[in-house]
Amino acid sequence: TDRYAVFGNPIKHSKSPLIHTAFAQQTRQDLEYTSVLVPEDGFNEAVDNFLAVEGEGKGLNITVPFKVEAWQKAECHSDRARMAGAVNTLYRNQTGQLCGDNTDGLGLVADITRNNDGEIAGKDLLILGAGGAVRGVLEPILALHPARLVIANRTVAKAEQLAQLFADHGAIEACSYDQLNGQQFDLVINGTAASLQGEVPPLPDDLLRPGAWCYDMMYAAEVTPFNRWAAAHGAEKTLDGLGMLVEQAAESFAIWRGIRPDTSELIQELRHQLL
Ligand code: ATR
Repeated sequence: TDRYAVFGNPIKHSKSPLIHTAFAQQTRQDLEYTSVLVPEDGFNEAVDNFLAVEGEGKGLNITVPFKVEAWQKAECHSDRARMAGAVNTLYRNQTGQLCGDNTDGLGLVADITRNNDGEIAGKDLLILGAGGAVRGVLEPILALHPARLVIANRTVAKAEQLAQLFADHGAIEACSYDQLNGQQFDLVINGTAASLQGEVPPLPDDLLRPGAWCYDMMYAAEVTPFNRWAAAHGAEKTLDGLGMLVEQAAESFAIWRGIRPDTSELIQELRHQLL
């Protein structure tokens, strides 16, 4: 049996085993997917053991805090993973090289465009935050050619660094939250960790253009603080990161197995379980 796993620390609450097991059943793929609590200093060894060239271990998902280590360990990268500086999907190619990909941005984009018929091409986009989570999704967003992509962050220098890094990939700018005054957007994506503290970045009241959508990369049983702000400030639609979670998994599954599972029923089921 081909074996897959998600490596992280902590890992207890990972939904990846449930998601990939459902994908395997749906697509009739014979595989086993587990979660592994990897010690902070044991990542390299754990990967080597799991993906030994002759073994049954075929692929890994990598989550907090190992995504950058996985990027460093990978011997080849997709363009989007190279730009992300982080890897959430590992596998060996036909010559045995350890390959790293990052499906977070594909998942975000798929949730917006496939699941919800949203548009990115030609739209004015704002992303809040400039940490690893945001860097991880920029390449697939820019590949769809938004008219503008503005990154706003509390620490402006970090937003500026990202804008510089991705300058060759499309129209990308950086600014502070104050500098958002007088600007309006069609799609605002929250990639800050502010929600974890129940906070929302300081945003102008008229930030959302009529018909604008908001996307919180976080998800929870309750409406997230950012999406509560969005609904109160005229967002036509608010989405949270549950769809992105399932879609990034579907993209990893497709990389490993060559078949992309349907996701809509599973997203509904997970939403139901949350409540
Ligand atoms: P991650 O890997 O989840 O992106 P990170 O690299 O620590 O984590 O980045 C966290 C992001 O959330 C940063 O953009 C951070 O802003 P700073 O770069 O200015 O620190 C942002 N963030 C965290 N708490 C926030 C808050 N209360 N208000 C606004 N932004 C916040």
